[in-house]
Amino acid sequence: MTLAERLAGARSVVVLTGAGVSAESGVPTFRGADGLWRQYRVEDLATPEAFRRNPRLVWEWYDWRRQLIAGCAPNPAHAAIAWLERQVPEFLLVTQNVDGLHRRAGSVRMVELHGNLWRARCLQEGTTRDLPDVPLAEMPPRCSCGGLLRPDVVWFGEALPPSALEQALQAADSCDVFLVVGTSAAVQPAASLPRVAREHGAFVVEVNLESTPLTGIAHDRHHGKAGVLLPRLLGLSPSPGPQPLSPA
Ligand code: OAD
Repeated sequence: MTLAERLAGARSVVVLTGAGVSAESGVPTFRGADGLWRQYRVEDLATPEAFRRNPRLVWEWYDWRRQLIAGCAPNPAHAAIAWLERQVPEFLLVTQNVDGLHRRAGSVRMVELHGNLWRARCLQEGTTRDLPDVPLAEMPPRCSCGGLLRPDVVWFGEALPPSALEQALQAADSCDVFLVVGTSAAVQPAASLPRVAREHGAFVVEVNLESTPLTGIAHDRHHGKAGVLLPRLLGLSPSPGPQPLSPA
């Protein structure tokens, strides 16, 4: 049975994505050869301690990433996932990405496990607000109440939003097909969701440029670019098939 056929017969599908799904849009990943964590230190930029020490530096880094992403567009992998959502009765996209590209591609039934860098949160009031796609005027920015704003993302050492995690776990518990796309599966608890799904009987499929700690538990693995493979696997673009031999 092809993946497209399996998905056509599925009642409930979960898709877990990581930075690899946005790589073909031009958004840097974290752990690849050109990954952000090769050039920057997590402890300087993505922990609560780093923010306490130097909120301006942290905001400058997030502002730089926002400007970079503002110039990027969703790619065929984002579009294929948004299309799949419209074909399946029960569907949940669980993304670790904070870039907002899934939403721009039309995904609706989704949870952003690590937050969204287009939002800020007031440390005093706990309220959130959207950020513009132009550089911030005030650095670090402040709320109208005078409190310091922080990026509304999850940093290392912080807990995930409980409702997002609960929703992701429930969906993983009860889905027929679990598709993992473009994550190194290095960060918990996101990396354990495919295992939960597998233990509850789901068919697990991985799409990634390379092998990951999840490759061994996947029933089906596809190595290559998500923007090329996903449309093909979902039956949205013709498979290249065997090419005719050209005369020497
Ligand atoms: P990583 O950078 O760790 O992994 C990206 C994965 O995508 C790797 O396994 C690549 O092989 C794969 N990949 C790259 N390009 C691809 C492509 N075109 N098609 C398919 N696969 C491709 O990113 P994440 O797994 O998302 O968290 O990282 C998880 C979390 O760690 C992030 O959400 C972030 C980071 O630190 C926080 O900041 C809390």
